[in-house]
Amino acid sequence: MNSLSIITPDDWHLHLRDNPYLEAVVNDTARQFRRAIIMPNLDPPVRSCADALAYRERILAALTAGSDFEPLMTLYLTDNTRVEDIVAASASPYIHGAKLYPAGATTNSDAGVTDLARLARVFEAMQKHGFILQIHGEATAPEVDVFDREKVFIDQSLARIRHDFPELPVVFEHITTRDAVEYVSAADGNLAATITPHHLLINRNAIFQGGIRPHHYCLPIAKREAHRQALVTAATSGDRRFFAGTDSAPHSRQAKETACGCAGIYSAHSALELYAETFELADDFTHFEAFMSRNGADFYGLPYNQGRVRLERESWTVPASLPYPDTGLIPFKAGESLRWKQILDA
Ligand code: DOR
Ligand code: ZN
Repeated sequence: MNSLSIITPDDWHLHLRDNPYLEAVVNDTARQFRRAIIMPNLDPPVRSCADALAYRERILAALTAGSDFEPLMTLYLTDNTRVEDIVAASASPYIHGAKLYPAGATTNSDAGVTDLARLARVFEAMQKHGFILQIHGEATAPEVDVFDREKVFIDQSLARIRHDFPELPVVFEHITTRDAVEYVSAADGNLAATITPHHLLINRNAIFQGGIRPHHYCLPIAKREAHRQALVTAATSGDRRFFAGTDSAPHSRQAKETACGCAGIYSAHSALELYAETFELADDFTHFEAFMSRNGADFYGLPYNQGRVRLERESWTVPASLPYPDTGLIPFKAGESLRWKQILDA
């Protein structure tokens, strides 16, 4: 097979930041994807409908003229999120869920949730309105081993949320373990998961290959090879509960290459090609379109996109660095070659 054509995909988990960073990255995503779920972990976070709608306008303004890219906004849950905020957001055609960051779990999560019990009324309202809960699923207690945080979160928190709110639609974001694949596979229709291109392509060895590799540091951190293989099996299976969500998370070179570097991998420059690389390595494109372009839309209750994207088998080299304020941006797979290339219509 030398060419691929699929329904234009969506990115169900994306960080765009705010200006001046936003305008440096948003068109990378818009070139490949028709829609994306926009993460609300700005500083300060996107907490209200007004915040989300204002951020949406800034995203639209940063797009290249003529782009039909649609940002799907989310709210950031805090200990003080009000039921009224959820009811208003669920009535908005522009807001598609609320994100749970356990406090301290990752970048800009300090305002996140310290105690799930405080959100009972919020979850109840979300369940009632069918408003999707996106979860960063990692336990934050400092004694939990960094490689076990996802599994501990499943056992201690996710299982409880799903027990108490069985009808609440949940997306378990950026899963990294076989445990998460098994948990989602065993669940009913209200639970789905996104999988990033980097967790499909690297295991934890990549973080320490010949020295410390800050550009492979993200959260949740990459796990053992057996976990990566479980993710590939899930992504290529056609199971409707698994879909693409890049978690592309830009940080300037200087913020990554320092004594205490930020977590996040930038993949938006070639996300579609990186996912194609995964399916190529698995030697099975049967469910590529389902994973990229249909499963997520089905879960979010949105129509499939009208357009199509094309890829051709053509080896090319990812740039060593991309333009970005401060010190530039090092993309995932910088300087390495990929086997599939998106073909843009003239
Ligand atoms: O690696 C990550 N980077 N994981 C997250 O959960 C957040 C993200 C970011 O915003 O930089
Ligand atoms: Zn993220």
